[in-house]
Order: sequence, then structure tokens, then C-alpha cells
Amino acid sequence: MKSAASYWALLSLLPTLLSTYSAFAAVPISAIRKTSNLPTVANKFIIEVEELANIPNKRSFERAHDAVYSELRARDVEFEVTKEYDSEGIFVGAALVVTDVKDAVAIENTPGVKSIRPVLSFRRPKILFNHVVTGVDDPELPVEPLSTHVMGNVDKVHAEGNIGRGIKIGILDTGIDYNHPALGGGIGPDFLVTGGYDFVGDAYTGANEPVPDSDPMDCEGHGTHVAGIISAQPGNPYGISGVAYGASINAYRVFGCAGSATEDVLVDALLRGHADGNDILTLSLGEANGWAQSASAVVSNRIAATGKIVTIAAGNDGSSGSWYSSTPGNAHNAISVASVANTAVPMQNATVHGVAYNPITYYRTNPLPTEGSELPVYATSNSTTVTNDACDPLPTSTPDLSPYVVIIRRGSCTFVQKLSNVFAKGATVALIYDNGNGFSPVALGDFNAALIQSFDGEFIVQQYAAGAPIRLSFPQAGASTNFPDPQGGLMSFFSSYGPSNDFQFKPAVAAPGGGILSTIPVDQGSYGVKSGTSMATPYMAGTAALLLAAKGKTPAVAKSARDLFETTANKISSSKTDGDPFQTLTQAGAGLADVYKAIHTTTIVSPGELILNDTANFKSFQTFTIENKGKTPKTYKLTHVPAGTALTQKPNSTYPALGPVPLSPAAASVVIVPDTVFLLPGTKLPVVLHFTPPRNVDASLYPVYSGFVDITSGSEIHHVSYLGLVGSLKNKPVFDNTPEFFGFRLPALLDGNDQPQAVPSNYTFAGGNIPSLLWRLVMGTPALRIDLVDANINFKPTLQSRDVDFDIGSLFTFPWLNPGGSFAQVKIVGTLASFDYISRHNEDPEENAWSLLRLRAPTFANGTTITNGQYRVLFRALKVTGNSKRQGDYESWLSPVFGISL
Ligand SMILES: *[C@@H]1O[C@H](CO)[C@@H](O)[C@H](O)[C@H]1NC(C)=O
Ligand SMILES: *[C@@H]1O[C@H](CO)[C@@H](O)[C@H](O)[C@H]1NC(C)=O
Ligand SMILES: *[C@@H]1O[C@H](CO)[C@@H](O)[C@H](O)[C@H]1NC(C)=O
Ligand SMILES: *[C@@H]1O[C@H](CO)[C@@H](O)[C@H](O)[C@H]1NC(C)=O
Ligand SMILES: *[C@@H]1O[C@H](CO)[C@@H](O)[C@H](O)[C@H]1NC(C)=O
Ligand SMILES: *[C@@H]1O[C@H](CO)[C@@H](O)[C@H](O)[C@H]1NC(C)=O
Repeated sequence: MKSAASYWALLSLLPTLLSTYSAFAAVPISAIRKTSNLPTVANKFIIEVEELANIPNKRSFERAHDAVYSELRARDVEFEVTKEYDSEGIFVGAALVVTDVKDAVAIENTPGVKSIRPVLSFRRPKILFNHVVTGVDDPELPVEPLSTHVMGNVDKVHAEGNIGRGIKIGILDTGIDYNHPALGGGIGPDFLVTGGYDFVGDAYTGANEPVPDSDPMDCEGHGTHVAGIISAQPGNPYGISGVAYGASINAYRVFGCAGSATEDVLVDALLRGHADGNDILTLSLGEANGWAQSASAVVSNRIAATGKIVTIAAGNDGSSGSWYSSTPGNAHNAISVASVANTAVPMQNATVHGVAYNPITYYRTNPLPTEGSELPVYATSNSTTVTNDACDPLPTSTPDLSPYVVIIRRGSCTFVQKLSNVFAKGATVALIYDNGNGFSPVALGDFNAALIQSFDGEFIVQQYAAGAPIRLSFPQAGASTNFPDPQGGLMSFFSSYGPSNDFQFKPAVAAPGGGILSTIPVDQGSYGVKSGTSMATPYMAGTAALLLAAKGKTPAVAKSARDLFETTANKISSSKTDGDPFQTLTQAGAGLADVYKAIHTTTIVSPGELILNDTANFKSFQTFTIENKGKTPKTYKLTHVPAGTALTQKPNSTYPALGPVPLSPAAASVVIVPDTVFLLPGTKLPVVLHFTPPRNVDASLYPVYSGFVDITSGSEIHHVSYLGLVGSLKNKPVFDNTPEFFGFRLPALLDGNDQPQAVPSNYTFAGGNIPSLLWRLVMGTPALRIDLVDANINFKPTLQSRDVDFDIGSLFTFPWLNPGGSFAQVKIVGTLASFDYISRHNEDPEENAWSLLRLRAPTFANGTTITNGQYRVLFRALKVTGNSKRQGDYESWLSPVFGISL
């Protein structure tokens, strides 16, 4: 089978990067997976077809689909239709499976086919905290379950009797346990969950056939939690209520009980949600991608453009830094939702015995399972300043650690490495004390362990070293504590950073998404606490429902919603330290949504976002309008309030700065004309702004500056948000061309032993004697071309190679925009692979750190066999904002010479 490649899975359901990979050393080449690791689902494409009237040879067909299929058959294309989309005005097309890459090429060139897009795969949403509440007196319950309602002023809107009645919300997720008493206890027109559909079936994993049915029951839990955030009915044992618990819900299930979902299913669900007349569609899913071109983003965008509200999670990739926004949340008209940390985090206390000391709070929602017994302490080091504690295997003199609670200092290597070493000596429970990095969620693998604060850890170790009889116990009940989150009200550390690669204002707004108590399936325990932008997104959908209920569910109100939420949001600081700047809008968007203000404001400011773009495309003049819809004249004062400037690239490196992205106080300056506006009731006036980018910043760090222009009248404050870049995206490096990650320079051609090819070699494609290509992108690209060229090509690449190094492609799936042949004046022998609108990589070896293309067969991407000969591979990546026809806008790399010798 000439299998097409799998474009590496770009869409995840909010994975959360908790690993501390920031301190990675070079990753051993042996870490790479044995299979190609490319950006999409193999062999499957989504085509969009022309209107029937525009299809030549349409003959007597009544549907555009049939005219196109007939044309495909006439061209001997073998294909299987797995989905059809027939939403006139939004999307008409189909998902096709082809087994031969030649057919994919033919499809692209068939009359009537308007576009062909790859199918992305979305991993299921990962959740930070996951705790099942045990009873009404469960001390893990947030002290004030509705603190999140207070944060977004939802409580005030509820107090007015607005609970979102009459609004229909479609939730695309894992389904909903509609039998849950707090979610209406049934499904159908008379229930809260009025309907929906299961597009996939329980056994669906994203890698097998979906088996749809009409019952969107949840067997995973995520969707039920999401639904409760919108809809939990008051009067439940926990005193919680949904943000818009008067709205009705449709459940569209796109995930099975485990695994991923593919985009063909998601498009189907989006179109169904639209056809069913939902006023709001909400998607707590996405995959870091940087672009808005994916099929699901295109369809989300078009649905929103008809005057519906589409809320989509911004993503949980905050630790990977900037330019890593999620799709489909990047859809231009969607509301991409960031997460704000709740004000309190439910944690547990350990009790200290043998010496007098207060309870020690450890970072876990539920108790460490130790049966509550008193455990003696064992410290892996008696020094409280050791930097690499337990990073190496423990000495042979170490006793059996099973009777102890082991204390380890944070630092130097991963938590999992430390815990592996300690548990290798029999440990059953361990505490890691902070070294000043912060008391926050960390990745501990499956180990029975937790993080504690530095002063607590130092105390324990000092007592232990002094020979004191210190023991700890972990009460299994009654020791829950609400730790005032030092980050409460700030951005959740996991919330993804934009902007998108086309410099859209992503995310748009933020909502509470950390430590949220909501419903979970009855058979999982009924109530639980979860965190993620998955939780912020339904909060925003509920908020939008309250707005529509208050102002009328018209397309005009829906289309104005994002501006309204942005201009009435509350600014979010970057820290709790006085004098620190507001958080970069690349993570916070316009701020924390305030639904009461959005509903009641009589000042309408529009638009809410001003995009200054990069230096090369700088739009220094901007304008917005202020309208006084109140009953009294108002005078508005306009002032500039900068936020922190995000230094998005590491110094002296092409690598993105990891999150939390460092901020500079350097700010743009703005001339505001006029800076005082007097408006009679019912009048409006435009304001003109002239921006000058910040001067005291290093452009090589690709600083993204942002901030607000405040519009103040008495106690009423609104703002417009702006975003710009010092530097030109066309100069921003795309390839990782360093040896930093693997210890040898990238891109690289690997030989049959997965070593960089060191001497000129011929490949036989037998017995594993195949070449592979390995690369990393430090920035997304609109076009990545991998071509075979003549060994003697006269071409000067922009990037450094090793002296010897090369490779060959094999197969991949996505058709190329420049089919068959040379472009940009470079003569190629043939195309090996080509990808459009792909993401940069991150630095997490467990996640998305590189792409690997195994050339398993000596064929071009179109399936034609490559003739024996001596070749090189030419990599070209178009820089963001570059012109695809200009060779100078590509970064290029030429492999060493290698032979194909069959
Ligand atoms: C947990 O420990 C902290 C710190 O010692 C203390 O302030 C808090 O009151 C304790 N909470 C409970 C429920 O024991
Ligand atoms: C640490 O202190 C304890 C208690 O005094 C002692 O038993 C142990 O040997 C010390 N460990 C080292 C490595 O010095
Ligand atoms: C920024 O400029 C680039 C290059 O002209 C353009 O493609 C992009 O759409 C612009 N972004 C916005 C949000 O206007
Ligand atoms: C970057 O390189 C310059 C020049 O070599 C050097 O002065 C500077 O200290 C470096 N900065 C960092 C953060 O390494
Ligand atoms: C590869 O094959 C070519 C053509 O047969 C031959 O000239 C060359 O010597 C071979 N190179 C190696 C390293 O075997
Ligand atoms: C496949 O691509 C190669 C190289 O560009 C070309 O020579 C060949 O004609 C193509 N085959 C088909 C069937 O298009």
C-alpha cells in the first residue's frame, strides 16, 4: 500500500504539559519513535465541493457530491466516502479515504473539488485536577463553590433572574450523563438535555471506525463536567449551579470512552450542531497548531459568521510558550477562551508527629493513600541546599525505604526521575519540597507523591538530620484545606499563549478554569473537581447564553458578543507583586470576562481588538468607536495602559521562550485623538490612535507588545485591546538548525541505524536499509516542502548542514499545493512530502518535539518509484508572511548526497 503519511496529530483535547522539560539536556536519538511522526491522519481527506451549478459535466446529478464522485470514478480514482457534509452556505463536501497517494493527487485536480484538507486528530482533553467528591461534608469541596460565579459576576446576573432561559447550547465533547439528577435526569424535549447525537460510539478511539447512534451518553466524564459548568441545576447536594442553568443543551459526542477524535467527525458534529439551531456551540478541545486553516477551524469560523456564538478552548500548552495557539480555537470568528486560576485550590494537610509543627499542606486534591499511619522520615540528603537530590540512583547503602515517607529536594532532573530512584529502593510514599520554583501542579507520573513548600521541607530535613523523632501521617479524611492560591485570579499557568501565526488576537478572553467543582457521571461519583481551559470554555458559553437571554438571540447580538466581552473584561495582572505589569494579552486576551458588565453597559466600544501586526506589516493608525447608549450625556477620558511585553524567543537562540513567557516593561506609546470624548445619549464618535512600538526591547527576542486603551467615565471603565510585534515574522527562523536538541545539527538525514548519515551511502530499501528525515520547527510554517533534487544541484541553502547528511522521503499523505514539479526557480526531481499550515514543535520529548519521516519505500509522494541514482533532499519552509512564489522567503536545507540503489 502506498500509504500516505500521517500528518502528525495536531489537534489535542487540551493536553496539559506538566513535565519540567525546561531543563532538558540533549535528547538521545534513541528516544525517537520507530514510526513516522508527521502532522495528520493517514489516507483521509476532507474535500469541499463547488456548488452544483459550477461543476462542469454535472449532467443530471442533483447533488454536487454525486457529480464529483462520478468525475472521480471517471478518472479511476479509488476512494471511499466516510462522511458527507451538506450544509449549504457553510460547508458542502465529504471525508474520503484513499489508499493510494496517486488518488489523493487526482482528487485535488478534479473539477468540482474546491479544496482538499488533511484530517487532524485531536487527543482527548487532559485534566489537571481530578477529584471525585465523596459527600456533602467532603472537606475537599471548595469553601465557596460559587467563587467562580463571583469572579465573572455571574451571581449578579442570576440575581436578576437571568439564567439563560430560551437559549440552546450544543456541547461537542465526550457526551453527557443526562441521567445525572443535576443535569435533568433524562434526555428529550422535556429535559434539560433536549437531544444530541453520538457520532462515534463507546469503542471509538480515533483510529478505528466510528459507530454512531442517537444516544450521546458519556462514558468518559469530561463532557459531563463541561455540561455541569453550564447547566448544573441548583438544589443539588453541593450547592453549585451552572452559569446558564436555564439554557437547554444538545450533546454531540465526538469522543469514545478512550482515545482521540478525528476532524472528519468534528466537522460533522459542528454542522449538525448548527443545523439543530443551537445558538451557541462550545468546544473544550483543540490542538496546538498556530493556524486557522484546518477544516474544523474553517467550519467553526463560518458558523460563527452566520451569527452564532462559538466558544473554543485556547489550549493547555502554556508551558510551551508563545506562537502555540490551538486550532480550531484559532478560527477568526470564534471566541478562544483562556483560563484564570481560581482563588482557592483544594489541597491536603499532613500531620507532623514527634516534634511540634503545624500541619504541612501538600499539593494534592485527595489524600496520599497511606492508611493514615505515622511514618518515620527518610531524607535522601541531609542538606537543604543540594541541587540534584536523588537525580542519580540511590547508594547501595540505602535501607529498604518502604516504612518511610521519603523527603526529596526539587531540582536538576525531573520529578519522575527522582521518584523512580527512590521507589526503586522500595519507597511507598514521597514528598518533594520546592526549591523556590513555586508551589504549583507538577508532573509526578503515577508515583504516590506530592509537592510541599520549601520551608516545610527544610524543616523536616533539618529535624531528620538532627536525629529528631519526626514522623508524618496523612489523614484520609478531614485534612482537606483550601490553599489560597497565590496565583488565584491570575492566568492559569497552563493556559496557552498566542498570538496565532497570522497574528490574530488569540485567546480573546479568559474565564475561571482552575479547580472547578461540577458534575461527573453518576457511576464515577456524581461530582468532581477538574481544571483546564476545558473548564473555562463552557463557563464562557454559559456567559454568552446569559448575554443572548438578556439582549435577544439575534445574529447582531451574537456577532457583537466577542467585542462586548473583550471591552468589558477585567484586566489580569502578571503577578501579585505591586508594580508588575498586566499579563501579556497573548495569554490573557482582553481579560477576565464580566457578564454583568457586558449585559448592562450603556457604552458600546467597537472593535474590541486592534491588531498592529509585525513591523513589516505595521498598522500604526488604528480606530475604534465609542457609543453612548445611555440616557445621560457622558464624558469619557481615554488613557493608555500597557501590559507586559512578551519576549517570545530565548536570548541568543531560535527557540521559543517557554512559559511563563518572560515579560519586559517596555511599552508602546500611543497618541489618542481625542483623549476626551463627550457624547450625548444616542451618539457615537470615532477615536483615532497612533502607535509607536516600544523602543527599548531587543527585536531578536521577537517581543509581542500589548495593552489597552481605557475609556473611563466616572466608575465605568471599558477598554480596547491591542497587540503588535517588534520585528518581522518573515525573518523569524522556522527550522531548528542547531545541535541543541539531539546533540547533532538539524535537520538531519538518518541512516538505517537511525544515526546521522556520516559517510556517503546508498540505500537499498531492503532489510531496514532506509533513510529517514528528522527535523524540528521552532516556528510554524504555511508551507513545508520536502523535495528530491539532483546530487549536483547548484543551490545555496540558507541553513547549515553537517558535512555529510542527507536523506530521502517515502510517503506521506497530504497533497501539495504545487503539484508535480519545480517552483520558485528550483529544479526538483520530485516531491517527497509536503505539508501546509503546520505547527512549530515544542520541547517536550513525550509530546511534540520533532517530526520524523521514514522513507520506507523509494517513491515520490505521488507513489511513483524513484529511479536509481545519486540525489540530495531539499527542505524548504516558507517563513510566516512570506510569499510562496519567492525563493528568498523560504528557509532551505540541502542534505548531503546519497544514493538510491534498488
Ligand atoms: C492545613 O495546614 C495549614 C498550614 O499549617 C493550616 O493553616 C490549615 O489550617 C490546615 N487546615 C486544616 C484543615 O487542617
Ligand atoms: C543524615 O542524618 C541522619 C540523622 O542524623 C543520619 O543517620 C544519616 O547518616 C545522615 N546522612 C548522611 C548522608 O550524612
Ligand atoms: C498581519 O500581516 C500579515 C501579512 O500581511 C497578514 O497575512 C495577516 O493577516 C495580518 N494579520 C492580521 C490579524 O491582520
Ligand atoms: C548573547 O550573546 C551576546 C553576544 O555574544 C552576549 O553578550 C550575551 O551575554 C548573550 N546573552 C545571553 C542571555 O546568553
Ligand atoms: C553508490 O552507488 C553508486 C552508483 O552505483 C556508486 O557509484 C557509488 O560508489 C556507491 N556509493 C557507495 C558509498 O557505495
Ligand atoms: C510523480 O512524480 C514524479 C516526480 O515529480 C513524476 O516524474 C511522475 O510523473 C509523477 N507521477 C504521476 C503518476 O503523476
